[in-house]
Amino acid sequence: MKDFAFDLLRPELAQATGTTLWIADENALQPELAITPRNNVTVISNRIDLTDSLTEQGWQCRFSDFNFSEYADGSIDTLIYRVSKEKPIVHHVINQAIRLLRPDGKLFIAGLKNEGIKTYLDKAKKRFAGNMQTEKSDKNTWMGILTRPDACDTDSLDDQDYPVLRDVASDETYHYYSKPGVFGWNKIDKGSEYLIEQLGRFTERLKQPATRILDLGCGYGYLAMNCASDDCFVTATDNNATALQACQENFSRHKINGEVIPANCAEGIDSRYPMIICNPPFHQGFSVTGDLTDIFLRATRRRLENDGIAAFVTNLHIPLERKASAHFNRVETLADNGSFKLVLLAKPKR
Ligand SMILES: C[S@@+](CC[C@H](N)C(=O)[O-])C[C@H]1O[C@@H](n2cnc3c(N)ncnc32)[C@H](O)[C@@H]1O
Repeated sequence: MKDFAFDLLRPELAQATGTTLWIADENALQPELAITPRNNVTVISNRIDLTDSLTEQGWQCRFSDFNFSEYADGSIDTLIYRVSKEKPIVHHVINQAIRLLRPDGKLFIAGLKNEGIKTYLDKAKKRFAGNMQTEKSDKNTWMGILTRPDACDTDSLDDQDYPVLRDVASDETYHYYSKPGVFGWNKIDKGSEYLIEQLGRFTERLKQPATRILDLGCGYGYLAMNCASDDCFVTATDNNATALQACQENFSRHKINGEVIPANCAEGIDSRYPMIICNPPFHQGFSVTGDLTDIFLRATRRRLENDGIAAFVTNLHIPLERKASAHFNRVETLADNGSFKLVLLAKPKR
């Protein structure tokens, strides 16, 4: 799908002068970027798939949850940013832009009306002491060009303490640490909770208890933490820097028997596992590179041992069984609770 907001930024990215940061999240997952890599531009992305693909194309990239601490105050000439879905992240980037830009440096920020771009532009304009011009490509798509004044004395925008991991939820077993930017960051997901409650329905199908489990798309680590034990080592993987940071924090705090690995759908993870657990995502920014459910099913087929089982939980409306039957000889819906269903996948097609 075409992203008109990114199209407004495209020429700015292609012509940016001086030390430039391009802040890119899932919204930048464009099938065709069509811009030649620039020596003066560094991409800061919280997505490992985007980082890998842009690095392959020749861009200099840093994979982080938009942590700019390595850049000194006033060290940046140009910032390019297509707004993110989450308000705390947008506020964090605008606040950081004030710190990072040298006087007269420029922030180019674009988005759609239904993403709140006009409100973001109003707030950014105040922070930049009124130094803003706007452009629009249609009534829904806006870009602000903000010039850093010598002095910025307005209050920072409320970023909900974006950089800080905090205790967001707990149950009888654990306190969970997370922060904005992670899927369902401030609660325990109802689908994942249902999967853990009913885990026995899956594990009773195993010939012997699994000693290794792969959690595909681990988020802050809820499923992984509740499957790990002294006898079971869990590999938790995700493509989102913020999720990985939170998951690592939870593993360290609770001494979880496991590891946390950045990967795009387990790419680069070579082992096969006797058990895989997954609460798959079902949309991906603006990408049209393929159906995410299907990509997760393919990854599961590749990484599952021949006699292993995969435990999936999805919303009832996702046609998981139909899609999964292309990849597995055994697909069984074990239960549903009116909102979520638990699906067992086994006998991967080789
Ligand atoms: C529905 S959430 C489940 C999170 C967590 N397992 C839970 O139960 O709370 C799906 C997760 O998949 C991750 N994800 C999305 N696309 C991915 C990809 N291509 N590779 C790896 N992880 C991905 C998201 O970042 C998100 O954390």
